[in-house]
Amino acid sequence: MGNDSMGGELKVHAFADGAAYARRIARGLGVSFAPVRLHRFPDGESLVRVAPQAGRHAVLVRTLSDPNSKILDTLFAADALRRAGASRVSLVVPYLAYMRQDKVFHPGEPISQRVIGKLLGEAFDAVLTMEPHLHRVKNLAEVIPCETSTVAVAPAVARWVKREAKGCVVVGPDAESWRFVEAIARAAGAAWIVGEKQRHGDRRVKITFARTPAANHAVIVDDIASSGVTLAEAVRELRRHGVVNVDAVVVHAVFAPGALAMVRRAGARRIVSCDTISHPTNAIRTAPLFAEALRRAR
Ligand code: R5P
Repeated sequence: MGNDSMGGELKVHAFADGAAYARRIARGLGVSFAPVRLHRFPDGESLVRVAPQAGRHAVLVRTLSDPNSKILDTLFAADALRRAGASRVSLVVPYLAYMRQDKVFHPGEPISQRVIGKLLGEAFDAVLTMEPHLHRVKNLAEVIPCETSTVAVAPAVARWVKREAKGCVVVGPDAESWRFVEAIARAAGAAWIVGEKQRHGDRRVKITFARTPAANHAVIVDDIASSGVTLAEAVRELRRHGVVNVDAVVVHAVFAPGALAMVRRAGARRIVSCDTISHPTNAIRTAPLFAEALRRAR
């Protein structure tokens, strides 16, 4: 096992913070795992070390929650793997940060999405991610100049909905979420609606639903929960419409301090997430989906 048509024997690598997730991918593929060692110098600079690669296809697994502290080390690891002899270096990045700033919203701002995309595209041969929040661009290849792949998570979320929330209405908090919501609802055999969201600031949103969901049970699904205000406002609004049980499922559980408690206070019954970011709400495993995508690409 382990031979890769795209670059020799495949090996999975990760920093200590993502080792458990990366080991699951390695196990799913039947290949070995090797840690990336990280040393912090007293001045805050970092040094990464990897094992010799001998012509292997090196797959680095690194989720980019807390991105400012992780991006440089991730780029250093790509360079180290190549210099150690890897014939191909791929990045599995379950949560790809900085994708929301995809245009200049106000004069004087950068397009952070493009800056990060360029850095990753130059460092890696391939980038695989999940629900990267692409709204104004059609696909990841427009953002990251290397081979890219977006692994679908909707089927896994749909399985959760089918198992845990039979008879519910699947709800998207805003128009941008409709593709994701529709994919989940169709796969789960559920009805679905999306709301209208207006954002007035980092922590201020207004969500409205044109019609009352025809069920006592709603499951809000969204790609990211960050400040938590989108989920909290959607929960409040659904309860105002008379929906008794409101659950929430998010892919990327960023959850800033206090965010989860706020969503609970708004009246959410269950709040669950995919494990692209390690969080107490994790209930849907995604490593097998990346293992399957890598297996299919071999
Ligand atoms: C926005 O379009 C996204 O899909 C999420 O709804 C948003 O990023 C969630 O952020 P927050 O938790 O800060 O409302």
